[in-house]
Amino acid sequence: MSLLTRFEAAARERLPQAHYDYFAGGAGDESTVAENEAAFGRLRLAPRVLSGAPPDPAVTLLGCRASMPLLIAPTAFHRLAHPDGELATARAAAAEETVMVVSMASTTPVEALADTGADLWFQLYVQPDMAFTERIVARAEKAGCRALVVTADSPVFGARPRDLHNDFHSLPEGLACENLREGDVVRPIEFSPEISWARLDRLREVTDMPLVVKGVTHPADARLAAGHGAALIMVSNHGGRQLDRTAAAIDLLPAVVDALVGAVPVTVDGGIRRGTDVVTALALGAQAVLLGRPVLWGLAAAGEAGVREVLAWFRAEIELATALVGGPLDPSVVRPC
Ligand SMILES: Cc1cc2nc3c(=O)[nH]c(=O)nc-3n(C[C@H](O)[C@H](O)[C@H](O)COP(=O)(O)O)c2cc1C
Repeated sequence: MSLLTRFEAAARERLPQAHYDYFAGGAGDESTVAENEAAFGRLRLAPRVLSGAPPDPAVTLLGCRASMPLLIAPTAFHRLAHPDGELATARAAAAEETVMVVSMASTTPVEALADTGADLWFQLYVQPDMAFTERIVARAEKAGCRALVVTADSPVFGARPRDLHNDFHSLPEGLACENLREGDVVRPIEFSPEISWARLDRLREVTDMPLVVKGVTHPADARLAAGHGAALIMVSNHGGRQLDRTAAAIDLLPAVVDALVGAVPVTVDGGIRRGTDVVTALALGAQAVLLGRPVLWGLAAAGEAGVREVLAWFRAEIELATALVGGPLDPSVVRPC
């Protein structure tokens, strides 16, 4: 049983069913949730030998150095997992030296997270009210966020049967999406079909933060994103929480990498559960991966210490896998099984 499996079991025990289900669940039949992990299981490695000392796992992306090619994905509502919420996650990111992508739906204000000293990127759902959207972006920039991650895969909210079954549709008393607070008012997040390339162009004009497009799955969109000035592209199916039956993230990666021919760095997230998954993603052309649910399991199980343990465990896993798979790390070391 891996550390992650143990932490997930602890989270399941500690959390109310509706909150555990919110974190674990996905859209439709949850086939994409399962596929994200299963697809790694269908790949095998052909290690290289006698290739010398493994490289330093540290990466620099958009000017931010991470001690390993693994960043924390934006996930909502950390205070549902643990009372310390996003503060615990940000402190763990700072201690383990990686980037935390702060969800717009954070239950802790971005300014408080910036005080931890962690390198933060800010994730945005473009709101139909563009003036409000721009105020959120300005606030994130002022807080010191180093990139703006625009989530592009959510023109509407994916239907999640577990949440419907549990009647989970709002935060408990005392918790709110603090990045949407203006004075006493916290506006609800709206998912808007009006998100478009034109809106991305507008965001590029109003911020100096580099733009990241999260949720790209199709190579044509990767080219469009690069053409519209994206500084980094995140291949992601939102952890299977938006459109069920979307292909596994790792299976979508190679076509996106090919389409971009090195013009823009690419990351992938969805189903990363082992160091070998990370090495596979790097071999297929990702510069780094992002981690969603495992961070939440660490947080629910043991707060900041739990997130630190998850990150440190991944660093050891990545170092081991990198040393054993040798180099050069390119698609030739990955085989279908
Ligand atoms: C509970 C939960 C909440 C999420 N909230 C957001 C969010 O607010 N914004 C966003 O862009 N992605 C969100 N995601 C998607 C993650 O950023 C990421 O794409 C996904 O979790 C990666 O898959 P993994 O959980 O298998 O690692 C969320 C995912 C989960 C599990």
